[in-house]
Amino acid sequence: MKLQTRQFDTLIIGAGGAGLNAALQLANADLDVAVVSKVFPTRSHTVAAQGGVNAALANVEPDNWHWHMFDTVKGSDYLGDQDAIEFMCREAIPTVYELEHDGVPFSRLENGKIYQRAFGGQSQNFGGDQAVRTCAAADRTGHAILHTLYAQNVRAATHFFDEYFAIDLLRDEEGVILGALVMQIESGELLLLESKTTLLATGGCGQVFRTTSNARINTGDGMAMALRAGVPLQDMEFFQFHPTGILSKGMLISEGVRGEGGYLINGDGERFMPKYAPHAKDLASRDVVSRSIMTEIKEGRGCGPKGDHVLLKVDHLDEKIIMKRLPGIRELSRIFAGVDPVEEPIPVFPTAHYVMGGIPTDRFGRVIVPMRHGEQEIPGLYAAGECACASVHGANRLGGNSLLDILVFGRAAGKDIIDFVRENPNHRQMPEESVERVMQRFRRWEQPGEGISVRQLREEFRKIMEDHAGVFRVEEVMQEGVELLQEIRERLTEVRLKDQSSCFNVARTEALELENMIDVGMSIAVSALHRKESRGAHSRPDYPERDDQQWLKHSLYYLEDDQMDYKPVRTRPLTVESFPPKERVY
Ligand code: FUM
Repeated sequence: MKLQTRQFDTLIIGAGGAGLNAALQLANADLDVAVVSKVFPTRSHTVAAQGGVNAALANVEPDNWHWHMFDTVKGSDYLGDQDAIEFMCREAIPTVYELEHDGVPFSRLENGKIYQRAFGGQSQNFGGDQAVRTCAAADRTGHAILHTLYAQNVRAATHFFDEYFAIDLLRDEEGVILGALVMQIESGELLLLESKTTLLATGGCGQVFRTTSNARINTGDGMAMALRAGVPLQDMEFFQFHPTGILSKGMLISEGVRGEGGYLINGDGERFMPKYAPHAKDLASRDVVSRSIMTEIKEGRGCGPKGDHVLLKVDHLDEKIIMKRLPGIRELSRIFAGVDPVEEPIPVFPTAHYVMGGIPTDRFGRVIVPMRHGEQEIPGLYAAGECACASVHGANRLGGNSLLDILVFGRAAGKDIIDFVRENPNHRQMPEESVERVMQRFRRWEQPGEGISVRQLREEFRKIMEDHAGVFRVEEVMQEGVELLQEIRERLTEVRLKDQSSCFNVARTEALELENMIDVGMSIAVSALHRKESRGAHSRPDYPERDDQQWLKHSLYYLEDDQMDYKPVRTRPLTVESFPPKERVY
């Protein structure tokens, strides 16, 4: 069967902030750019980002990028690469102004400057008073940014393939990435997209956990495609649990709530965070706040009849402030928690929110893999956003650095791709075997017969992840988790689709997503089992200390035989002195 084929200079898979900011650079430089998205672009998960984007604009309090850099290195528990962190914190400022000029409707201060709020783990003067650094559009910052970037891309004539699912990357025998095979979800028709460069910008993988703030689309597709192309995933054991998810539902209640003056209380009505973080209190780093909540609950000071959550108190704030700065939070709380935060506190529990690890890249978004002597780029392959690991978040990400990461590194990748395409102006030959390999994977779902349903296996898998790779992790529980995941992987071969039709076959898309999730889930579980220390979001009661002698290194998980490898942390920044590891207190 001859596949329909299209050629582009660049293929971008994913239409969130990273993909769209990269596409915009490319389209503005008159390159032929295709963006493939499994949902309509403005439904990408960036739209759900609430609290804001960090940039040391100093609109409210004194600030500078170097303090931001210090906070990010400390927040990462010293596992972040300091060259990339310096780059991100410097680039934050022009990136936010560029967005402002593109039309992002940021909230405003009385003097007309961009509104900034306090967020966790951020300080003035290298650990001093709380910084006010997070630029916000009320509590719908991601929405404001994504819609602006989409509109700008439409203006710049970016070519969108909306509601197309990327099945896999295509590569030649030298390992050069040549594009991807994609499927139109509506018709089930396949399309071969050939490109000189491919950027993976598919977002995170929070759906591997049962309770998550992530949208249904966050199934780790780009990470799994990279794994299948032989690329390892870096630092996957570091998964962030956001302290304030709505109880039992997982939807996010922004850290911006605490930034505006909200605080957490336990079942005794006690404000407990000062016990754990005397200086930063409720605005300590997220890993610290999540562990504190879990400790309160475990020690019997939880709220409600089951003592299974804590409360986020906002009712002491002026209703006008809530309506002006946190309108979305009020709406979410009413709908999903059944409470109006103006009158009563919100029941919250940590929710799976963000993966610090991902596809290893340099600060230009080029995918790099370790070789015997140093590192090597995968020609033509880029990654940016949550699916990538630049690595600026190390073992724990600061709130407000996620929108920043996607925007800065999406932009940087776009600019680098322009140079790459100018130096490599021709398409390479697409080998038939490469297409055939991907087709085989796709056809596997056409096997008839009875079997396990996608939904059943998916729910079993997500429960295993929640029970065995959560906030606190101990050896035996994790070991059992890895074994259970191996069984899930074997049982995947027994899954069958009842519906074999082509037209809008959601079950088939979910099956392809499940394959991706299982590979990515395994990378989290295996990487976590191997790291025998506590660092950032990876908390091991059986190894309670951070161990810089043994473990100040990045982990790399390979799909083949679930192998692990390691590589050094880049502790040298670009222009300033390095921040050496110190005890991390808030
Ligand atoms: O709490 C929040 O608004 C989330 C922000 C983030 O993850 O950066």
